[in-house]
Formats: sequence, structure tokens, C-alpha cells
Amino acid sequence: MCGIVGYTGARPAAPLLLEGLKRLEYRGYDSAGIALVEDGRIEVHKAPGRIAALERELGQNLPPGHTGIAHTRWATHGAPSTANAHPHTDCGGTLALIHNGIIENAGLLRTALIRRGHVFRSETDTEVLAHLIEEAHAKGGALVGAVAGALQQVEGTYGIAVVSTREPDTIVAARRGSPLLVAIGSGENFIASDASAVLAQTRSVVYLDDGEIAVVRPGDYRIVDLDTAEKEKAVSRVDWDLAKIERGGYAHFMLKEIMEQPESLRNTLRGRVLEEEGTSRLGGLNLSDEQLLQVNRIVFTACGTSWHSALIGEYMMEELARIPSEVEYASEFRYRNPIVDERTLVVGISQSGETADTLAALREAKRRGARTLGIVNVVGSTIAREVDGGIYLHAGPEIGVASTKAFTSQIVALALLTLTMGRVRALSILQGREVARALLRLPELVERILAKAADVERIAERVMRATNVLYLGRGYNFPVALEGALKLKEISYIHAEGYPAAEMKHGPIALIDDLMPVVFLAPRDAVYQKVVSNVEEVKARGGRVVAVVTEGDTGLARLADHQIEVPETLDLLTPVLTVLPLQLLAYYIAVRRGCDVDQPRNLAKSVTVE
Ligand code: F6R
Repeated sequence: MCGIVGYTGARPAAPLLLEGLKRLEYRGYDSAGIALVEDGRIEVHKAPGRIAALERELGQNLPPGHTGIAHTRWATHGAPSTANAHPHTDCGGTLALIHNGIIENAGLLRTALIRRGHVFRSETDTEVLAHLIEEAHAKGGALVGAVAGALQQVEGTYGIAVVSTREPDTIVAARRGSPLLVAIGSGENFIASDASAVLAQTRSVVYLDDGEIAVVRPGDYRIVDLDTAEKEKAVSRVDWDLAKIERGGYAHFMLKEIMEQPESLRNTLRGRVLEEEGTSRLGGLNLSDEQLLQVNRIVFTACGTSWHSALIGEYMMEELARIPSEVEYASEFRYRNPIVDERTLVVGISQSGETADTLAALREAKRRGARTLGIVNVVGSTIAREVDGGIYLHAGPEIGVASTKAFTSQIVALALLTLTMGRVRALSILQGREVARALLRLPELVERILAKAADVERIAERVMRATNVLYLGRGYNFPVALEGALKLKEISYIHAEGYPAAEMKHGPIALIDDLMPVVFLAPRDAVYQKVVSNVEEVKARGGRVVAVVTEGDTGLARLADHQIEVPETLDLLTPVLTVLPLQLLAYYIAVRRGCDVDQPRNLAKSVTVE
């Protein structure tokens, strides 16, 4: 949801800002803009569309300036036009501002500002901030005081950065609800939505918390609160490998991330499986065995793909650990007066660790006395920092907007959590060992499936012209059906639905004809025979069946038009394998349809607005 980056130092700012923006483009790509402070004035350039369009608008001669800010937008208020692109300026053009988030009382503030003579040039909520800061700044004093004064008048969420001609080498940045960090260089400093924007320049970062303002200059930075009182903050080191945020020879990040899954799963598992003891070692849970035993209910909360992995977590936790569990959309949970108490464990699952609804749901749970855990990929993200304990996925940066490797790592992390929760209860050491061994084998099985990607590519040829696709699965593979459908619709724009296979009879079966591909998840698990019956029902109505089956299975060969085989594993871990052909199918279909796989329309990687 919008990427922001800023630089102040001795080097020309524009190339560094453009490089940072490209790294942040996954956060939004409706428009982009840049503001540079030079010779007592601010030069602003903007363009609708991708960063490439901004580069075209800038041409060969990049504007000068050693201090600047830049923005890539995911539109909330106002269409993705040049006028609505950030940075926004005040009436006199003495300051420029970029913003990620939503100012909820923008309407009221705008009316009042217009009444006081301010002239607005955009339809955005953001522009009110530029004018509020202008008013406060006009009264004299430092830019930081003006920003703090303006922020005290706004409701909603923001990560902002402001530059002013009156303090030409200063960037003032502030955060409430939208991620922001200061990155520390030598004689130069940056601000950014996330570390990927600045990783090529420095690895030392200070994560801002809500209610904090950073005053950043080439040689120093300081952090203050909204009353401008100084705060001490720890410096963190980001150890992501730079190559991991490059495409590395793959046509798309999505394909790279699909293919990385053997490695990402190894990293999620590393050092955590205690095979002999039949359990897991999860150092970050911060829960004693006694506290684990006190948990009498688990609520998983998440959005999108992470919500699908949460469903798998619920099934695992009830089957193996025998703890009553449920899954809540974070956006519903937070507004629902949920019932949680100190014996409820609320587990938020989020790749980015920044999803606004998931964060708010966890805060609400905490406020009501529940213990919170985060299953998060991005180290140092807000959710990771706010929960009582958690499990990092260590899947490496996921840049493709469609989540792939994070999903499989989430399932594995949930299985590890289930082992820990189960083994302090009734889960036997033998059962625990069986799960532990199966977990350790997964990366190798994943490799085997990915080696057959070309088979899936051929099936994609046959499905790519469909206008609707139904995905059906039961038990552990029902959430995989949801995930397969989500992958297809988000990157290829084909309408797709995921359903529990048996529920098909209660409605969706009416849609089936010979134009409708139906993708069945049918590994040899406890519900296999039931799924075969559902395949029969589809075939009887002329549907075209693509079946994901266990290697060597012949039961569906006569019914399925196309079969994709996956190796055998424990029922609870089948989703890690069965989802892979669905990720590949969505990918190859989208590529064949000429869609922008890594940056599908209207989406953004990190949804930091509710
Ligand atoms: C789908 C996808 C989204 C995210 C959702 C939650 O491919 O990526 O549905 O899963 O926006 O994001 P995180 O996991 O970052 O909280």
C-alpha cells in the first residue's frame, strides 16, 4: 500500500530514490512521483502508472538535489492521475509530502482549510497534511514542530515524509499505522517503507513505532514523539541477501518464488524439528509448558492467502493437539466484539507483518487479555514487534504480489506449532515423530513436483481460455482449493471459486458444463473416496476435470481429463504439495494471457489500509 523512500546526503538524490522506488513498486503501482530540494526550491515530478512512466517523464537529465522524497501509489482517495500522485505540496510550494495510509477526517479538514484560503490541487486525503503543515510552519519554528502539530489534528493512519525549502537538507518522517524506518548510512541517511528500498546502500535501520517522528539529516537523525520529546531507539541490522530481492534469471518474481520453495521450506524447518522427541523447538514463542497447557482455545486470524493457511492450522490443531480452534478474517474479528480471554491464544498469520486488519485484530485481542502469537515472514515488521511471541517463516523476501512460498512456509510453521502444542498434551511421541519425519522430507518432495513444472504448463494451455474455473477439495485440501482459486483470479483475472467438494451439490454444480474446468484436489488421504464420488458427479454433467492426485494413483485416471501427480505424505502436510501445481497453473495461465504476473491490476503486496 504505497511505497515511500527519502534520501539526504552528499550524493545526487534522484538515482537513489528511483532505485528505492523500484524495490518498493510491489507496494503499489498506480502512479509515482519524486520531489527534490535544490537552490531554495522544490522540484516535483509525477506520472500516472508505473515507475517506468516516471522515468520517461524525467528523461535522461535527472533533476539535481541532494535531499528528496519519492512515492509509488496504491490509490485510495482519488483516481490514479498525475494530480493525485504524490508528492503533494502546500500552497506556496515550500514543502512537499508523501503519505502511505488514510486520513479519515480529511473531508472535514479540507473544508476548514479551504475556508481559510488554501487551494487544493488533488482529490487525495493526503493533501490536507501538506496544508496543515504549511499553516503550522508559517508560524515559525522547526519543521518537526509543524509536522507534529499537524499530525495532532488528523485521524487515521500514516507513514509520511516531508521536505521543506526552509530546512533544505532535512527529511521529517512520521508513522502511525503504516510501516516506516530510518536507514543509517555514512554521511547520508534514508527513510523508507521497508528495508528492501535501501538494502543496496545500508543494512542499519531504526524501525519507527506508532506516534514517532524522525528528523533525518545527512550527518545525524533523531527520533521524537508527537510532543517532540526525544526518544532512544535501537539500531537493527537487516541481513537479507540482496540477490534475494532480484529476479535472478527468472521471468517473474512469482516463478522464482515458486521455485525457491524447497529452500524456503528448509529455512522454515532449520533447527526446529526434534525428530527423536517428536516435537519442535520454537524459541520465539515465549511460552512455558505450563502456559502452553493453560491455552484452552486458539483463534487464528489473517487475511487472504494467510487466512487459507490459518484454516489448515485449525484442522491440524484440532486433529493433533485437540485444542478447539477457529479461524477469523482479521477484518471481521476486529469489529465483532470477539470473545477472548487470558486462556485464548490468538495467532496472527501474515507474510508482510504489516497487514492493517491483522495488526488491528491482534491489538484488539491483546487489549482483551489474550496472549498473541505472530507467524510472520518479514523480520522486524510491526506485527512481529507487537505480539507476545511468534514464529518467523525465514522464507526470504516475497516480492511477487501473489503469495506462494510464504503460504507453504506458513503451513509448515503451523505444523511445528501443532507439534509443540500437541506434545505437551495428548499427542504421543510416536505420532510426533511421524509428523517430524514427514516435515523433514517435504523439501525433497517439493523439488520433485517442481521438476515437473512443464507438465503443468501443458495443462495451462488447455485451461487458459476458460472464463470460470471451479476448485474443489475436502479436509486439509479444502483450503488449498480456496488458495488455488485465489491465485488464478488475482493474476489471470479468470473468475474462480474454491469450494469444499461435497458442497458443490448445494449450488455450484449448476454452473458445470463442458466449458467449465473443475480442478480437484484428490490426494490419497482420508477423504479420497469421497472426492472420487464428487469427480463422478462433475463428469456426469460433462465437466472437464483436472485432478491433483498421489503418485501412482489410478483411481481417477479414467475420469480426469488431466492429471498431476504429487508424492505421498501425511494427510495434514498434503497442502504443501498439492498447492504447488495450482501455483504453477495460475502462473502459466496468466503468462499466456499476457497478464502482469508480479503486479496484477488493483492489488498491492502489503495491505496497510483497512
Ligand atoms: C494473495 C495474497 C494476499 C495476502 C493478504 C495478506 O496472493 O498475497 O491475499 O495473503 O493480503 O497479506 P499478509 O500475509 O502479508 O498479511
